[in-house]
Amino acid sequence: MIILEDVAKNYGDTHVLKGITLEVRKGEFLSVTGSSGSGKSTLLNLIGGMDRPDSGKILVGGEDITAYTDDALTLYRRKKIGFIFQFFNLFPNISVFENVRIPLLLNEISDEEAVRRYIARVGLEGKERRYPYQLSGGEQQRVAIARALVHDPEIILADEPTGSLDSRTGTAIMDLVRELAGETRKTVVLVTHEAHISAYAQREVGIRDGSIV
Ligand SMILES: Nc1ncnc2c1ncn2[C@@H]1O[C@H](COP(=O)(O)OP(=O)(O)O)[C@@H](O)[C@H]1O
Ligand SMILES: [Mg+2]
Repeated sequence: MIILEDVAKNYGDTHVLKGITLEVRKGEFLSVTGSSGSGKSTLLNLIGGMDRPDSGKILVGGEDITAYTDDALTLYRRKKIGFIFQFFNLFPNISVFENVRIPLLLNEISDEEAVRRYIARVGLEGKERRYPYQLSGGEQQRVAIARALVHDPEIILADEPTGSLDSRTGTAIMDLVRELAGETRKTVVLVTHEAHISAYAQREVGIRDGSIV
């Protein structure tokens, strides 16, 4: 499903990723662990088409996304990727319902039923009209999970999804991610610096000094 071939990424003189080769199978739940600054977010951003490598190839479903035009890469990101972030990244001035609907609007899909269904599935039925500030951190991450899934992307990318939650809430969020990803057969790449979060994955790899270990 996802193949990285000798992918390198530099920021100026900083060699963040030095020839990453990695394969993620369809439906697999992979975690990548590494300390802060090891290049985890950079790696996810490359897979998600939010950034481009300096060299190497990234194949997704057999297509080389590094050869895409900017427009094609934007379409890829909108359609194929669901992103879950450490700090939720919800829009503060719109409701739960509107936040979850965003990926559908971007893909020109009008399926309000799907929005309601995913909100209910993450346990937030009845909270559709609330604003993010009226929710706990765990509830905000549930909104973000619904938003990551509502457009039925093939790939879920999770960047330290429990990093700003207490450990009990974090565990509940990981249970939900694993359950929903399994039900909907998503391919998941999770990055984290926490071993007990990484343990939720089917397979774990490490990243150190810009290389997979
Ligand atoms: N946009 C950027 N510009 C310059 N340096 C960056 C940028 N993004 C990340 N870096 C650097 O790349 C390294 C890896 O960052 P990152 O991928 O965010 O690591 P992690 O997510 O594992 O903490 C760090 O040294 C960071 O300072
Ligand atoms: Mg990071």
